[in-house]
Amino acid sequence: MSLEFKPYLQGKQSYKGGKSISEVKALVGDKPIYKLSSNENALGSSPKAVAAVQELISSLSIYPDNTDTRFREALSRFYGGKLTPEQFLTTNSGVANIELIIRGFMEEGTNVIYSNPAFGPYKGFPVKLGANAIDIPLTGNNFDMNVKGILDAVNDKTRLIFITSPNNPTGTHLPKGQIDDLINNLPDHLVLVFDEVYYQYADASDFVRPLPYVLEGKNVIGINSFSKAYGLAGLRVGYSYSTPEISNYLRNLRRPFMINSLSMAGAIAALDDDEFIQQTVSLIHKEKQFLYSELDKLGVKYWKTQANFILVKPEISAEAFEDAMVNEGVMVRPVAGFGAPGCIRVTIGKRVANEAFVKAWKKILS
Ligand SMILES: Cc1ncc(COP(=O)(O)O)c(C=O)c1O
Repeated sequence: MSLEFKPYLQGKQSYKGGKSISEVKALVGDKPIYKLSSNENALGSSPKAVAAVQELISSLSIYPDNTDTRFREALSRFYGGKLTPEQFLTTNSGVANIELIIRGFMEEGTNVIYSNPAFGPYKGFPVKLGANAIDIPLTGNNFDMNVKGILDAVNDKTRLIFITSPNNPTGTHLPKGQIDDLINNLPDHLVLVFDEVYYQYADASDFVRPLPYVLEGKNVIGINSFSKAYGLAGLRVGYSYSTPEISNYLRNLRRPFMINSLSMAGAIAALDDDEFIQQTVSLIHKEKQFLYSELDKLGVKYWKTQANFILVKPEISAEAFEDAMVNEGVMVRPVAGFGAPGCIRVTIGKRVANEAFVKAWKKILS
C-alpha cells in the first residue's frame, strides 16, 4: 500500500497574501513605505485592546480560559443582549470561522455558490474538500447580486451561499432589496453566509447587516473580524453569529483553547472601544472624499466604496502598476485573484499615505 493523496488537495495554491513590508524594504531601501495593500487600520490598534494585551504579557505560561464563555458573553453585551452567548462562534480569525462553517456543512460532491469578484477562501476551502464552487458573478457597474442566477443555481447539493457586504475587493454594498429578495426565496436546506467584516465603514441608506435576518430565525450566519476596524489583524480573532441551532452545531468543530489568551483579552477590550471605532470611521469617511477628488482629477476609473479601500482600474496592467507603485514605496494590491482582473485595491490610509499614493500615480502617468 502507498500513501493516498486526495486529488483535490494536490496542486492547489493556498491563499496568496499581499507583499510584506520587509520584501518591499529590500527593494526601496530607506524610502518611506506606505502599506495600502491589506485593508489594515490606518490608525493602528484599539488602545484598549493594546492595554489588555500588555497586561497579560507576563502570564504566557498560563493556558487561556478553557472556554470562550467570557468572550461570547462580551459579544452578547456588545449586541445589546439581542443575541445570546450561545449564538456566537468565536475563532482565531474571520477566515478560520469561514473554514469551520465550510467543514461543518460541506463535503465531497456538495456545492457552494459565491459571486466574483470575491474573497478567495469562499471557493478555496470548499474545493479542498472535493466540493464544487459555483460562481454567479456580480453584475453591472454597481456589482449587483444576480439574485435570479443564484436561485437558479441552487439545487439539493447546495449547502452554502456566500455574500459579502461591503464586498472585498469592490468596496460596494448589496442593497437591502437584493438581500431580501434572495433570503425570502431560499430553501431551508442551505445556509446563507453573510460576510460583514467591513460593516463599520458602511453609511449607505440601503445598507443592511445579517443581524435582522438572524433575529428572524433565518438560516443566516454573519461573519466578523477584529482585523479591520479594531486594528487587530496580527492577533487573528474573529467571530460569527447565527441561530442557536447553527452556532451550537458549529461549536463542535472548535479546537480546545482555540483562541490564545492575548487575542481573547484584546478582542474583549476592543469591543468596548467605541471611541477608537469612531475615530477610525471618521478618518476613512474624510479620506475617501480626498481620494475621490484626486482620482477624479486624474480621470481614473474607480468605484465608490463602503469600506476602507477603493477598487481602481489603472490604464496599465495591474501587475506593472503594482511594481511601479512599489518602486515609489506605495504598496497596493492587484486583485485578479479575487476575480477582478486589471484592477488594483488601495487601502485608505492617513492623509500622508494617500498623498503618497496620488503622487506616485502622477509619476507613473508621466
Ligand atoms: C471579506 C473578508 N472576509 C473575511 C476576512 C478575514 O479576515 P481575518 O481572517 O483577518 O479575520 C477578510 C480579510 O481580508 C475579508 O476581506
